[in-house]
Amino acid sequence: MTQPTRAHIALTMQIPSTPDPHTSHTAGEDLRRLLDRAKAGFEQAFGQAPTVAAYAPGRANLIGEHTDYSGGLVLPCAIQLGCVAVASAGGRGVEAAACDLGETASLASAPATPHDVSNHPSWFRYVAGAHACASRRLPEIPRQLRVALASSVPSGSGLSSSAALAVAVVRAMEGLAGSTMDSIDRARSAREAETDFAGVPCGIMDQLASVLGRPGEAVRIDCRSMRTSPVPLPAPEQASLLLFDTTVRHDNSDGAYAARRRACDEAASTLGVGLLRDLPALSEVSLRSLTADQADAVRHVLSENARVDAFVAASRAGDLHSAGRAMTESHISLRDVFGVSCRESDELVELLLGQRGVLGARMTGAGFGGWVLALIDASHEADVAAETTASFARLVDSTPRCIPVRASGGARLIEL
Ligand code: GLA
Repeated sequence: MTQPTRAHIALTMQIPSTPDPHTSHTAGEDLRRLLDRAKAGFEQAFGQAPTVAAYAPGRANLIGEHTDYSGGLVLPCAIQLGCVAVASAGGRGVEAAACDLGETASLASAPATPHDVSNHPSWFRYVAGAHACASRRLPEIPRQLRVALASSVPSGSGLSSSAALAVAVVRAMEGLAGSTMDSIDRARSAREAETDFAGVPCGIMDQLASVLGRPGEAVRIDCRSMRTSPVPLPAPEQASLLLFDTTVRHDNSDGAYAARRRACDEAASTLGVGLLRDLPALSEVSLRSLTADQADAVRHVLSENARVDAFVAASRAGDLHSAGRAMTESHISLRDVFGVSCRESDELVELLLGQRGVLGARMTGAGFGGWVLALIDASHEADVAAETTASFARLVDSTPRCIPVRASGGARLIEL
């Protein structure tokens, strides 16, 4: 395979023009284009114009993986890719169009129950679920709903395409109702769409990241108390966060994610606590009563919680070498202890760590493929991006995408 040229690399990296930290535009694909696509799809499907529009971003998780459903610590940021939902009240039940797929689906009676949509396409289960779960909290939400969706978050990639979709629908429902719920309820409504209607027993990280995103910042979330605190990303002249696509896609409803979650829940119950987060430090816990998988789950979750705070402290102190080390240690734990990485992610991480200027690298999201996140000294960013995409292309036989993380604003209504 020939070496990609600089022009080729610039295209592959899709680095947007200078982001304005005070606006929260989706930069990877312009928000206006997403909105136009959603509106055109809506008009084509329903022969009328929508009355509200909402946007919700995907997320990249800096560190704190597979800890949220054990009440642990996470550090995600909303990114510049996201989902637009345009909607109006009316029609019969819930009628929806997925503009990126060219599909429509509907349900005559609403609000839906999980049983009503068990044979519908997966994307529609999120829509009907988000409508039903938001309606429980906000009874003013119209029962009859028409909605169209357009997204720039690649699906099955670990960047939370499903949370972006569900949060965008919830936000649009609030727009139709003319009232709002608080951030936590907004995130919970979207999460219930995923757990109850799509069958993925996920935690709350993705939905909260999508709701709470702020330009230039990640958010530390304590998933037991729901306390959140902003953590500024490194200054662009100091370091960059780049995402590299392994090109391996994964569906979290296939059972592997649920199996990991089960090991955590069973370990907590055997050790007599509600959540693994309630355990003391790892050195004080006896793992003898646990199966091998359960013991590994405890080892991973407790050490990962500690790594989140190590990362936050290092990053606040400007010690990016220590922050990067915590990221790499997180990857090693996800790979060797918790068993949610895959060959391609491991190879990408190895490739990255072998280069000058790479401070740390890890898989991000649920795992089993998706994207790898690297913290890179700013002066080496371009070289690392070029060398990594070129070398990885030789391994996977296609040019993997590389995009910078632009920490962006959270879910909001947008003008039609
Ligand atoms: C998925 C889930 C999240 C979280 C991550 C792993 O993204 O939706 O709740 O568990 O995996 O950290």
